[in-house]
Amino acid sequence: MAKSLEFEISIYPAPVLRKPASEVESFDDDLQETIDAMFIRMRESQGVGLAAPQVGLKQRILVLNHSGAAEDDLVLVNPTILKLSGPREVSEEGCLSFPGIYGEVSRPDRVRIKAQTPKGEPFEQDYEGFVSRIIQHEMDHLEGVLLIDRMSPADKLRNRLAFEDLVEDYKSKLAKAGS
Ligand code: NI
Repeated sequence: MAKSLEFEISIYPAPVLRKPASEVESFDDDLQETIDAMFIRMRESQGVGLAAPQVGLKQRILVLNHSGAAEDDLVLVNPTILKLSGPREVSEEGCLSFPGIYGEVSRPDRVRIKAQTPKGEPFEQDYEGFVSRIIQHEMDHLEGVLLIDRMSPADKLRNRLAFEDLVEDYKSKLAKAGS
């Protein structure tokens, strides 16, 4: 048996995080292997959601689990938002690509999604509350939109040194890789 995939999380300001992701066209074993490895990475990182660009893949794949219970695993392949509705709610969000950084983000409470399963079967579903928030956050990743773009100006200012630290870390990693 082939060694299973292992993913590293791409940390801001890695350029892949800014690239729009492309539609998945092959619903094959490779896709399932990618999804399985994304779940492993998400759980090991104690995240509630992960988008493929966060592991360096420009594909429209999201995995999430809001509770930690296996039955709450959710996979969205090629998701699109059909409708946002309900009152806007402000809540604190973090992101595995911004370790240690949290900020308040305003989002509508409900979202209706059209997506495909890992087998390519289309479905539509409504989500609300925390799951809706996770989905909207992860959908942003597929368009190259990040937490730093969405958080309140006050939180962006409060975290500015942490953002600068991430940029410095990224530069020094690149320098090491190139030396
Ligand atoms: Ni994120």
